[in-house]
Amino acid sequence: MAEGNVMEKIVSLCKRRGFVYPASEIYGGINGFWDYGPLGSLLKNNIRDSWWRTMVEAPPIGPDGHPIDMVGVDTSIIQNPKTWVASGHVGGFSDPMVDDRETKQRYRADHVMVYVPKDKQGNAFAFLPGEEEAAEKKIKRDARRNPADYEKIPLTKLPLDQFGNIVAPATKTAGTLTEPRAFNLMFITYVGAIQDEESKSYLRPETAQGIFLNYKNIVDTTRVKIPFGVAQIGKSFRNEVTPRNFIFRSREFEQMEMEFFCHPDESRTWYEFWTAERMRWWESIGVKKENLRLREHEKDELSHYSKMTVDIEYRYPFTAPDFGELEGIAHRGDYDLTQHQKHSGNRLDYFDQELQLKLKEQGANADEIKQKSRYIPHVIEPASGLTRAVLLLLCEAYAEDATRPSPVYLKFDAKMAPVKVGIFPLVNKEGMPEVAEKLYMDLRTKFMCEYDPKQSIGKRYARMDEIGTPYCVTIDGQTLQDQTVTIRERDTLKQERVALDKVGGYLSERLT
Ligand code: GAP
Repeated sequence: MAEGNVMEKIVSLCKRRGFVYPASEIYGGINGFWDYGPLGSLLKNNIRDSWWRTMVEAPPIGPDGHPIDMVGVDTSIIQNPKTWVASGHVGGFSDPMVDDRETKQRYRADHVMVYVPKDKQGNAFAFLPGEEEAAEKKIKRDARRNPADYEKIPLTKLPLDQFGNIVAPATKTAGTLTEPRAFNLMFITYVGAIQDEESKSYLRPETAQGIFLNYKNIVDTTRVKIPFGVAQIGKSFRNEVTPRNFIFRSREFEQMEMEFFCHPDESRTWYEFWTAERMRWWESIGVKKENLRLREHEKDELSHYSKMTVDIEYRYPFTAPDFGELEGIAHRGDYDLTQHQKHSGNRLDYFDQELQLKLKEQGANADEIKQKSRYIPHVIEPASGLTRAVLLLLCEAYAEDATRPSPVYLKFDAKMAPVKVGIFPLVNKEGMPEVAEKLYMDLRTKFMCEYDPKQSIGKRYARMDEIGTPYCVTIDGQTLQDQTVTIRERDTLKQERVALDKVGGYLSERLT
């Protein structure tokens, strides 16, 4: 079990070994933006490829025993700005913000908690999650009262007429916080040479809308039939008020989203189907079941488009023992297609030929058949963050063991590990490098390998452990005599002697 501030240690390991760097670091960074280094991009690609393979190339078997119909797209980040009016993002995609007039700090109102005196006498004290201790000290010091005489409530639940009594975080006097104001999270840009209202556009805040915009194209140009899914992986941008917890909430991030179009009567079944499938996938990439949980959204936290949503949550080091969001599975109903139909003037309903035939067979009358076989499909949307998944796998893999060559190591599932195999000559002479290089030239076409002839073998193992490489192959003196090598397994530290010509097969069995 890792001790101390695990997040700080993970962030430091990421920087030290080239997983994630702060963006524009040489200029002092830019809050909410991160660059993925050589290992981070390999890890991210492994997650991305697994998601794409599971969703698009070999989608799950549906309840009827047949593989689900699924296609993939890659749509523009900038779309016609009317998209975001229709989707509700121009009007509704905002966070409630409060400003502190004295410190010029800006907070998300739903992140601020307040200690309110139970007897309604005196000041209330605002604090951010994790700062309870400081707030309680402040109560004892400034109000000369016992924290037990106060109730803890979210700022959003405090009536506006009591805002004048709040002592904000990092201030001493009450009344410096403004009332909450809606702050739109979309990044604005301008298309073309003239910057005015006409040319104003937005960087997409979700990949989903690119799918809805192409729904008709896909139905018209491919062989998909309801029920079917359209999947997309790509960058999204949100001008988050408080980007935090490393890459958990950033301003530029990647999403993996799938919109599943189905008959309204079947939407509940598909909602449950996809919830179970998505949980299974997280486990398949090495996340322990006990670190995941499902949480249904309360009515008042549903997004503007959602009828119901369940979050898959993970026990992050910064939320533990509690959980935080990893993926949302939303029942979007017919919200998006209806909105785009209305705003674009294009029909986006679906003509269900199979249903028409079925109704005919059942003896339905012509009017009923006409009315029922055209409908706007309902949509079930599993939406997850690819960059958030990188953080999740780093947290899940992080392990400490003072007795190992590297006291910190990453226990990635072998399929997700950025580097699969380290190949080392025990010493950089006596014919060993030649054999090792030849093995490397053979294996590099099959797996992500690193050849490293330098430093002591202990240091090389330690480095591979720290970046989570599951196997290390060492060529030693005995190799030159009997054509065998040692293969060291990261988690057990066990070493096995394997014939040189069997190494490829040995690794394939364990890595694919
Ligand atoms: N299309 C629906 C949608 O975008 P969301 O819950 O806002 O829903 C889906 O986002 C997922 O995208 C989240 O569960 C999270 O994994 C990821 N995500 C959202 N905002 C993020 C941010 N600022 N930084 C990193 N990941 C984010």
